Amino acid sequence: MIEKKEINRVLSKVIYPGFSKSIVDFNFVTDIKIEENRITINLDIPSASTAIAKQLKEEIVKRLSTSFNLEVVLYIKQPKMPRETSSNGRNVLPNIQNFVMVSSGKGGVGKSTTTVNIAIALAQQGKRVGLLDADIYGPNIPRMMGIADIQPIFLGKTIKPIDAHGIKVMSIGSLVERGASLIWKGAMVTQAIEQMLEDIKWGDLDVLLFDMPPGTGDAQLALAQNLPVTAGVCVTTPQKVALDDTIRSMDMFKNLKIPIAGIVENMSGFICPDNGKEYNIFGKGTTQPLIKAYSTQLLGEVPIEPAIREGGDSGQPIISIAPDCETAKRYKSIAEKLWDYLLEINKNGGVSNEEIQPTIF
Ligand SMILES: Nc1ncnc2c1ncn2[C@@H]1O[C@H](COP(=O)(O)OP(=O)(O)O)[C@@H](O)[C@H]1O
Ligand SMILES: [Mg+2]
Repeated sequence: MIEKKEINRVLSKVIYPGFSKSIVDFNFVTDIKIEENRITINLDIPSASTAIAKQLKEEIVKRLSTSFNLEVVLYIKQPKMPRETSSNGRNVLPNIQNFVMVSSGKGGVGKSTTTVNIAIALAQQGKRVGLLDADIYGPNIPRMMGIADIQPIFLGKTIKPIDAHGIKVMSIGSLVERGASLIWKGAMVTQAIEQMLEDIKWGDLDVLLFDMPPGTGDAQLALAQNLPVTAGVCVTTPQKVALDDTIRSMDMFKNLKIPIAGIVENMSGFICPDNGKEYNIFGKGTTQPLIKAYSTQLLGEVPIEPAIREGGDSGQPIISIAPDCETAKRYKSIAEKLWDYLLEINKNGGVSNEEIQPTIF
């Protein structure tokens, strides 16, 4: 009788398409059953792509059937592909499974820092991730991702996103002259967003995150009009003034009919590296009443930590260079909660692509 261990060893050679880790390393293999003359394998992958499922099927069957002389039954569970749900039903980027708009009422609360770290956390969990810096007033994603000096590659009229820390990135900061953003007015903002959506060639993605400009203006509206935004995330700090702005952000999501995935409370407490004591500099837990009022959830609390700022300044996000530290764990948990929310949203409105159809070989 074959042992699970042996099957696992074979499956751990199957690299998940687009990544350098195997389906076993990503914990995508959820069950292995061995019967007399049959192996049954269950996979749960984050991609809705039929091409990826097909590629995995072929490789798994090939590897297993050369190693063992048994029938292979393979179940691949995939998320539902969302239906086009934006108010006017448009989706100018049909190869992308989910769109997440990250907003904040005001600048400086750590929106970009949070977005970068969540995006990389999602990629570490096996999702194909894109990040679009749409913050026309302060596009600082290139610096935070360490790609400030890299020029984007133009292929004719289209632009190739830049690969960094396991995700695809493009920033309006890489596309306009430095300082030009200061003079942008309403119609130009809308036009710039639409142009970017049209011109950047992302390829297939499981999720594209948008780092939005602070506030509730034209950029948010332009995005919602051109894409079925799957969910919105609000980043705030626990200060009272930041919370007032957060309310405006939440109302904007509601008005644009964007489901709210939750709130990230950033700079929530400070753990002193000298004595390990926690200090609540801006307060803590002050988002609770808001969460209740909007029937949403707290995605997570991220403390103030010097290493987070240093990671941003040096282009080496903390989740990338210290994936096991406490703050990185917070970002990972936020990413998991966000992903679960996206699955939930798609389950209730999505179109089934290929749901647990067994393939028998
Ligand atoms: N949790 C945190 N701990 C320490 N510094 C942080 C934290 N979050 C953000 N920062 C720092 O605060 C500053 C503002 O963050 P940023 O992400 O640029 O904000 P926003 O995009 O909302 O304007 C940056 O210098 C960043 O490194
Ligand atoms: Mg920012």
